[in-house]
Amino acid sequence: MEVTLRIFRYNPENGKKPHYEEYKVTAEPTDRVLDLLEYIKGNFDGTLSFRRSCAHGICGSDAMRINGHNRLACKLLVKDLHGGKITIEPILGLRVIKDLIVDMEPFFENYRSVLPYLINDEPAPKKERLQSSEERERFDDTTKCILCACCTTSCPSFWVNEQYVGPAAIVTAHRFIFDSRDRGAAERLKILSGQFGVYRCHTIFNCTEACPREIEVTQAIGEVKKAIATGDLG
Ligand code: FES
Repeated sequence: MEVTLRIFRYNPENGKKPHYEEYKVTAEPTDRVLDLLEYIKGNFDGTLSFRRSCAHGICGSDAMRINGHNRLACKLLVKDLHGGKITIEPILGLRVIKDLIVDMEPFFENYRSVLPYLINDEPAPKKERLQSSEERERFDDTTKCILCACCTTSCPSFWVNEQYVGPAAIVTAHRFIFDSRDRGAAERLKILSGQFGVYRCHTIFNCTEACPREIEVTQAIGEVKKAIATGDLG
């Protein structure tokens, strides 16, 4: 099938304003959007810049806005876009460095702010800190996050203020807050009840729609809000 890709281009070093360029390619329906980007880079314009690493939906580096929705280019098949024209833009709310590459530092700064690691100063047991299957199940969904930023950069509250910690950071906090082995919940809940915490979420579900791992992001945010309100980690 013939496909036209309309791609956002910006190079701060060539003096041109941000603009879109179109490329016509022949694609198999089962090609991924990433395959087409690789083809264009290899055959039409080697300066086209985008991030990717694993190419299998694991590393989270190729999040981009495809036909208006945040997606991983390596997971999205051409046939699922239902049309001959595909518009590809950088994810929103972060400074564009070049073409489809954005500055992820504000995103990772927010991630670090919620203490994204196990906190437990109690003496370590001989073998390991045990937990039951039910205790592990409590936060299973939020362990699936790959930090691609699809959720956070689809959130209007983040677009307005990048200091809002955003859905991805709250998902990470959730993963530790509800872990029976962790002792840092109170500290994280205090951080998330602050000015740039969970109350900037207005429950519009963009994050849940955008998550390539199908995490129930809005639900996780709701559970953190409830834990702040009630102090209950059940
Ligand atoms: S390239 Fe790793 S998730 Fe797409």
